[in-house]
Amino acid sequence: MSGRGAAGDPAKRVEELREQVRRADHAYYVLDAPELTDAEYDALYRELVALEAAHPELQSPDSPTRRVAGAVSEEFASVRHLAPMISLDSVVELQAVRDFDARVRRLLELGEDDPPVAYRCEPKIDGLALELIYRDGLLETASTRGDGETGEDVTANVRTIRSIPLRLRSPKRGAGPPAQLSIRGEAFMTKQAFGELNERRAEAGEPVFANPRNAAAGSLRQLDPSITASRPLAFFGYAIAPDPELGLATQSEVLEALKGWGLAVSGESELRLGAEQVLEYHAAMNERRDELPFEIDGVVVKLDDLGGQERLGSRSRSPRWAIAAKFEPTEAVTRLSSIEVQVGRVGTITPVAHLEPVEVAGVTVQRASLHNRFEIERKDIRPGDRVVVHRAGDVIPYVVKALHDERKGRLAPFEFPDECPACATPLVEEGAYLRCPNGLACPAQLKEGLRHYGAKRAMDIDGLGEKLVEQLVDQGLVGSVADLYRLEPGPLAEIERMGEKSATNLVEAIAASKRRPLARFLFGLGIRHVGETVARLLAQAFPSVEALSEAGEDELLDVKGVGPEVAASVRAFFEADGTAKVLAELAGLGLEPEPPEPEPAGDSEYSGKAFVFTGKLERFRREAAEEAVRRLGARAASSVSKKTDFVVAGPGAGSKLEKAESLGIPVLTEDEFAAILDEHGAPAE
Ligand code: IVH
Repeated sequence: MSGRGAAGDPAKRVEELREQVRRADHAYYVLDAPELTDAEYDALYRELVALEAAHPELQSPDSPTRRVAGAVSEEFASVRHLAPMISLDSVVELQAVRDFDARVRRLLELGEDDPPVAYRCEPKIDGLALELIYRDGLLETASTRGDGETGEDVTANVRTIRSIPLRLRSPKRGAGPPAQLSIRGEAFMTKQAFGELNERRAEAGEPVFANPRNAAAGSLRQLDPSITASRPLAFFGYAIAPDPELGLATQSEVLEALKGWGLAVSGESELRLGAEQVLEYHAAMNERRDELPFEIDGVVVKLDDLGGQERLGSRSRSPRWAIAAKFEPTEAVTRLSSIEVQVGRVGTITPVAHLEPVEVAGVTVQRASLHNRFEIERKDIRPGDRVVVHRAGDVIPYVVKALHDERKGRLAPFEFPDECPACATPLVEEGAYLRCPNGLACPAQLKEGLRHYGAKRAMDIDGLGEKLVEQLVDQGLVGSVADLYRLEPGPLAEIERMGEKSATNLVEAIAASKRRPLARFLFGLGIRHVGETVARLLAQAFPSVEALSEAGEDELLDVKGVGPEVAASVRAFFEADGTAKVLAELAGLGLEPEPPEPEPAGDSEYSGKAFVFTGKLERFRREAAEEAVRRLGARAASSVSKKTDFVVAGPGAGSKLEKAESLGIPVLTEDEFAAILDEHGAPAE
């Protein structure tokens, strides 16, 4: 199919392919709504690379194959910005937002009877500002803010950011790009990409980045663009240098124009009328801060009317028509009391900081991660130091650095142990981490393992919390998972603070776990690399623990979604000393996990469909709802794209709901969703 066009007119085919790849990149990186499968995309991309190689005369710098074209340079050249990149006044007090609105009204000579002023409110993304200059629609220069007048030329690196078009699109409606266009926006890294990058770095023994902002800045300021290309950077546009020719009247229209030209803009921005509505937006974003995929440190409030912006003008460093209303900081300074070395469920040793309690972004923090032993050495963090602690989102709080200038007297460096703190077994090295190889014979791993086994998402044993597990193991009542099923109310009631009633309840809760779904049991066993999803796949493929234990590596690899790492780990688990014994004991004690219902017949109207849940679910627990979706033969996805079939929205639904509406995807209420489940005999608990 592709060969025909190429044989005909290679120039035409090359343009066709470039357009298709650009379109696919835009759908994937900007709209987050992929249109092609990976295989389809790869085929187009490969054909394009091959054609360009065969016809060097057809090469072009705006080809999507030329994102990493720059050579390694010695230093960054400096570039003068088309217009200065000014910054924003930051305020933290809410009253300052009201004052800002009052000042805007005064400068616009509005009276009390005039309607409230319209503001475009946008998340203030914590990344670094860039100017992109497009000439005749092609990306020409990209620079950092620098001192506001001149910045560093990071064009070669910015070309590798796939949500930044090398060539602007011409929107169907609205103005095409002008001959020269200066776009301002923020380059950033999502929390997830940041976490994964740091994990890879820690495993390779490389220093980790303190926060997504530093990771983004560090990645952009690489002299070798191929390094930047390997870092998952993103970009949102939020402004253009004023250009009367474009005929844009408001900031809202600017954002629309940016979208039309193919740039990504944040889906979280909203138009608000008057100070009180702006404050509501601020409060709502502050609430949602943790669940957003990127870090924000406040909201930016901009007078929507561009004519008004011009009238108000700027002071030397910041405009009068906008402010940054910041949130409480995510960092605080406190004292590091001590460092504890913890043993994880699979024996990984991690250092944990015990801190003098300090409030960070509304939460009291007393423990924080120190990543690994190399980080403690590299940052020279010692017990007794004053340290900076960071807490944001779902990321576990961590120690950013020690304030060495404030170190008084002599503090002894922390000595990392070479034996397991729980069982004294010599530790073994594994990348940047040390591991206790003693398995479940190590009481710390046993405790973690028991806790995991009883967790809600695993065997759901009510009452089997951290404290109790600790007591059960320390008092010698439980030495394995099987021992849980041997517990009797009598001796249990003797445990400190455990009355007869709770002892009986616990024994009942444990007994109730004998009939949990097989997938939960497999997850609960804590096999390395077997998370909930893999556990479900395994339970679908093998109807019992026995069947799974007999499966060879090849059979395991036949299961869709199971790779070599998982297969090897499952085999290692079943071959390990003691596994067979514990499993036999469990069976003898009456544990009989339930195999999953056979896959529903493929004829339900919902089979193969994708559901996305958003907002707060009031009728269902989210996991139960997702489980029910699977029983329908459908799947639960986490983000809305063109491939989404239904969105179930609860109260407080935000950007996903908006996206669903803009893509024309049916949106169900929880009640409507419940009705579907009932109709198909798959009610959620
Ligand atoms: S507008 C004159 N909008 O915050 C317009 N800035 O303190 C100046 N930022 O340097 C910027 N999100 O790096 C604007 N939606 C947004 C923003 C934003 C983040 C950053 C930007 C700027 C700093 C201002």
